[in-house]
This record gives sequence, C-alpha cells and structure tokens, in this order.
Amino acid sequence: MTRLATSAPETFIHRFEPATAPGQAPLLLLHGTGGDENDLLPLGRTVAPGAALLSPRGRTLEAGMPRFFRRLAEGVFDEEDLRRRTHELADFVEQARVEYGLPAPIALGFSNGANIAAAMLLLRPEVLSGAVLLRAMSPFAKPPAAALTAKPVLIVSGSFDPIIPEEDAARLAATLIGAGASVDHRSLPTGHGLSQADLRLVRDWLAQRLALAS
Ligand code: MLT
Repeated sequence: MTRLATSAPETFIHRFEPATAPGQAPLLLLHGTGGDENDLLPLGRTVAPGAALLSPRGRTLEAGMPRFFRRLAEGVFDEEDLRRRTHELADFVEQARVEYGLPAPIALGFSNGANIAAAMLLLRPEVLSGAVLLRAMSPFAKPPAAALTAKPVLIVSGSFDPIIPEEDAARLAATLIGAGASVDHRSLPTGHGLSQADLRLVRDWLAQRLALAS
C-alpha cells in the first residue's frame, strides 16, 4: 500500500505493509541517504517476518538524494533542521499509528535513517518502543536529556566504516545508556554497507523483542 502526501505538510510519502502475523510490534523503516520508502522493505520482511512495516521517505533533498534532515558536510549535521525534522517525523508516526491502528513501532534505521531514529529516541522517546540503529553516529553535539527507561536499543557498527568513526558510535551508546536505555552495541568486521552478519544479528535481536505484551 503506497500513500502519497495529500493533506498536512507533515505528511510523508510512505509505504505501509500490514502485519500478517499478529502480536508483534511494527517496524518503522528509515532509509539511508539516497534511499526511499522502498529500500528497506526487503530487510524488514527478512528480519521481522509477518510484522507490519511503515516506511517513510525522507523529505530533505541533497543533490536530488532523499534524506531525513540536512547536513552541512559529511558527519556535520544542521542540528536545527534535525530537531525540526525529528518532530515532523515523530508526528507522522503518531498519525500513522492512528490511521493504521498500530502499537508503538521499533525503528530500524540505516545510516542517515539510524541517525534520525537516534534523535527521535532523545527528543520524542514515547514514539518508539525500541530501535535498531545500523551504522549510526551521535546526532547531537550536546545531546538533550531524555528518559529512555529500559527501552531496548541495538547499535551495529562496522569496524572498517569510513563514514562513522567507532568512537562516535560509542558516544551515542554512552548517551543512550546514560538516559536509561537498555543498549546492546555490537561491532562487525565490515564497512558502512550492510552484511549478512548484520541481518542475522538484527533478526535474532528482534526475535526476542518484537512480541507485544498481551
Ligand atoms: C548522515 O548524514 O546522516 C551520515 O553522515 C550518514 C550518511 O547519510 O551518509
């Protein structure tokens, strides 16, 4: 099912796939720079079979490539835009939950999508029930205080990632732990792109956390 922006300016072009297996948290799929709403659907189906999938397209363009927020240079974020876009995306998720009748999703973000998911954990923690952050970095120079009590977060870094320095991902993990999240930070011997090992790790981690409390 594809929905196009029609009414409120906050509305995102997105794809929604309803759940085929009940009782699981939906996934909020957030693509990387240059991706779109179609990119992560196969990944979502692989790591969370039967879960509902909500996949918006980032509303910022960089040289024609969709992103979720503006950056000033690689790894240097326009934090004012990041804050505004994070609230816009969080509002969209809340509207989509009402429209599609969904519980709070677990975000599954890659690169730029992982960075806005990390920002959402810090600025609007109630919107997400957890997050998988693939190749993420710390979104804010001075992270805001947040209460993430026991929220499950998986961070997967690549030890040869030329874009995300390992200490930056470690700083993000420390921020989230400091805010009370239950963080599992793994590093794989790979680069910025995703590997089969990422898929296995994410699938196994989600298998323990997707089931909704009844
Ligand atoms: C970002 O801009 O969010 C990060 O540098 C990752 C990227 O999208 O290249």
